Amino acid sequence: MSIQRVRSKWAKTKVLVRSNDLKQYIPQTKRFNRESLLLMINQHEMIYVKPDNGTFGKGVIRVEKVTEPSAGYRYQIKTDQIFVSTFEALYNGLQSYTRHKDYLVQKGVYLLKHQKRRFDIRVMVQKNLSDHWETTAIIGRLSHPERIVTNYHSGGTMVTYERLLSTHLSPTETTAYKKRLEKLGASIGRQLQTAYPRLKEIGVDVAIDTKLHPWVLEVNTKPHPYIYKILPDKSIYRKVRRYSLAYGGMKA
Ligand SMILES: Nc1ncnc2c1ncn2[C@@H]1O[C@H](COP(=O)(O)OP(=O)(O)OP(=O)(O)O)[C@@H](O)[C@H]1O
Ligand SMILES: [Mg+2]
Repeated sequence: MSIQRVRSKWAKTKVLVRSNDLKQYIPQTKRFNRESLLLMINQHEMIYVKPDNGTFGKGVIRVEKVTEPSAGYRYQIKTDQIFVSTFEALYNGLQSYTRHKDYLVQKGVYLLKHQKRRFDIRVMVQKNLSDHWETTAIIGRLSHPERIVTNYHSGGTMVTYERLLSTHLSPTETTAYKKRLEKLGASIGRQLQTAYPRLKEIGVDVAIDTKLHPWVLEVNTKPHPYIYKILPDKSIYRKVRRYSLAYGGMKA
């Protein structure tokens, strides 16, 4: 049997929030519609509207409630920013994207920054040779200065986790926080496996907010193993590859 892939972010989120331990790491997420948009923007002030089956950060929209230039809403897709003064105008504007496919609305996380650019973390978690979920690699993704997503396809850059966190944490704290992310990654693997037993590897997108709380933005079931090649510690990519080869995720 082949390795399991699950495209719907909504389906995966539902499995994750079933866990009492993991709930605190999952930003509130709903299916996009007029009612959920209204509720979420009033509750969170800043939200992300994104395709349920998205990749490469395509179609991702950031929406904020603003007071400048006057009371209203601002939304951004790619580098275009649009201001509207009423909720109706916001809903209509977003609908030009959302009516073509299923969309989600998610609480927005104010990401930590590095040299004025937002970053998030990609955590690679794999079934190891003893069939246990193990976090094998962690890398940071730094956004293009004008973008609202960190994806490589949108001008993002891969940077080591240590480099990004060292401006926010001491060296000891940076190491301890990495351990915490590794544990979180493995728990996510175990929880998803309850619904998807043939899953072998996942790439967890973790956003760290300005209070250093980690938030799981989404879980990719077809993560790219090659991005870890750039890490200076070559043993990391070798392990990712070894595990992947063992369950047939990569060709030798
Ligand atoms: N709720 C959120 N708060 C803050 N930033 C977010 C949020 N959701 C998404 N983003 C930003 O947008 C990026 C893309 O979002 P997401 O991972 O959900 O889409 P994607 O199309 O599946 O991307 P990929 O397939 O490359 O992982 C995230 O990596 C993050 O930088
Ligand atoms: Mg992603």
